[in-house]
Amino acid sequence: MTSSNTPFSTLVRTASHEQHMEAETSTFMSDLLGGRLGVDAYARYTEQLWFVYRALEESAERLSDDAVAGPFIQPELLRLASLEQDLAHLRGADWRAGLTALPATTTYAQRVTECALTWPAGYIAHHYTRYLGDLSGGQIIRDKAEKTWGFTRKGDGVRFYVFEEIANPAAFKRRYRELLDGIRADDLEKQRIVAECKRAFALNTAVFQALGEEFRLSA
Ligand code: HEM
Repeated sequence: MTSSNTPFSTLVRTASHEQHMEAETSTFMSDLLGGRLGVDAYARYTEQLWFVYRALEESAERLSDDAVAGPFIQPELLRLASLEQDLAHLRGADWRAGLTALPATTTYAQRVTECALTWPAGYIAHHYTRYLGDLSGGQIIRDKAEKTWGFTRKGDGVRFYVFEEIANPAAFKRRYRELLDGIRADDLEKQRIVAECKRAFALNTAVFQALGEEFRLSA
């Protein structure tokens, strides 16, 4: 059991452990990383990420002055420009023309925006769930994508997973966890952030579920 002395970063990680496994082992992720889906599925997934990161990053500048969320806003994390490069590679120069969000993606992005506008501490839960994940398991996804669909290593198609300005991801994650540990929030607020983090994982899983239905493998 975790006690009130448990660092907040540990609390968040432990609390979302089960949902992490669920996301990781979702049918869509397993099929994608198992090399059983075409590059079209990967592109469709990348499109969904674009909507999520637009929501995360369109609010970032304003939140950088916020007492609670401000320290988390770091330009080296920003992913939207990389996603746009990947989409231009995957879908062609007019990638925006065919871009559509799945309903589950819209729900996810709207929740991110709602937190950004009304509850900066809740925004941190979304920030953590995506960026710390990208810095961790994201690297496994990149490696599989390069091998499965033949992208240039760390090149077009997988730039989303490449943090050019973070030379040492392990050190960055350590600092990030320190930021979480030092968060200015009382215990109740921390519980709410943990709950929002679980919600963020569930929102991701719902997107995988929808993608899984779109890219169902015929038996
Ligand atoms: C197949 C897909 C995935 C794989 C293989 C994977 C793998 C990993 C690995 C190996 C770590 C490192 C754990 C550590 O540093 O101790 C990690 C951490 C993390 N992952 Fe994933 N992951 C996947 C999907 C996801 C998804 C979909 C999310 C949420 C959107 C996510 C969010 C996170 C977070 C937030 C962390 C940081 C945990 C912490 O240190 O606090 N991951 N993942």
